[in-house]
Amino acid sequence: MNKQVYVNGKYFDKNDAVVSVFDRGFLFADAVYEVTAVINGFLVDWKAHFSRLKNSLKEINLNFNIQEKEIFSIQKNLIEKNKIKEGLVYIQVTRGVGERDFNFSETQFKPTIVIFTQEKKILNTDRAKEGIKIVTLEEKRWKRRDIKTTQLLASSMGKSEASKIGKDDCWFIENGFITEGSSSNAFIINDNNEVITRELSHNLLGGITRSSLLHFCKKNNMKFRESKFTELEAKNANEAFITSATNFVVPVIEIDGDKVGKGVVGSHVKKFQKLYLNEIQKRLS
Ligand code: PDD
Repeated sequence: MNKQVYVNGKYFDKNDAVVSVFDRGFLFADAVYEVTAVINGFLVDWKAHFSRLKNSLKEINLNFNIQEKEIFSIQKNLIEKNKIKEGLVYIQVTRGVGERDFNFSETQFKPTIVIFTQEKKILNTDRAKEGIKIVTLEEKRWKRRDIKTTQLLASSMGKSEASKIGKDDCWFIENGFITEGSSSNAFIINDNNEVITRELSHNLLGGITRSSLLHFCKKNNMKFRESKFTELEAKNANEAFITSATNFVVPVIEIDGDKVGKGVVGSHVKKFQKLYLNEIQKRLS
């Protein structure tokens, strides 16, 4: 059976789900989105993702009273209909359909909502077990990276550039400091076994996985610090890793061709992977 997709109040076979070519999401990337992990059919950190979606809508002046219960039940329905055990649910809200016009302030739009699921391995992936190799690239994205918009071309080009030279992903650098990964938050672990990740600002997305991980660190009396770090600090770190809804915790073993630590997955990252999974399992059970 073909997968079902939700568009503006109705479920469609994925081949029949369409939006207008005049949708501002298509024409201007005038849209925000969320990606929530599904494990054993359960949504991970759903409330936090919904709350960030509301905030993204507010930040792009998209005045829309999105309904929490309704969205949750649509997402649960899709997980069931599409029999997703492990994977993700994607939701995108665009400003809606209208004449192509840069100025949106004088028109009343009806937002477009699209929700679909994707089957994807999140646990026990090769990436999680063996780690990934990354390259650093100059930051080319806009200055409000805290808003989860669908303007993802710079990130997409960055990841593709990394892939072309045989690497797995990129970390962006701005004024000498790492901002974050193409679609993940960046972490290092220093000689004092302290976990460091950049403090929140307009420069990076406040990851839900990042926030959960820091919460679990606090709860388990593990040392962490939210502050900027340079490429050199990252290369000299003992260990490094990324977090995101579709990766959870994935080790970084190489940066720009230099090994991080011994160039293999370190014991602290393994500990964080375990800690994260244990805590998530508790929340889901
Ligand atoms: N991306 N930073 C960026 C730029 C991201 O795109 C993401 C997530 C994160 C991590 O956020 P979270 O922990 O809430 O997933 C950080 C998702 C997975 C995506 O675009 O597919």
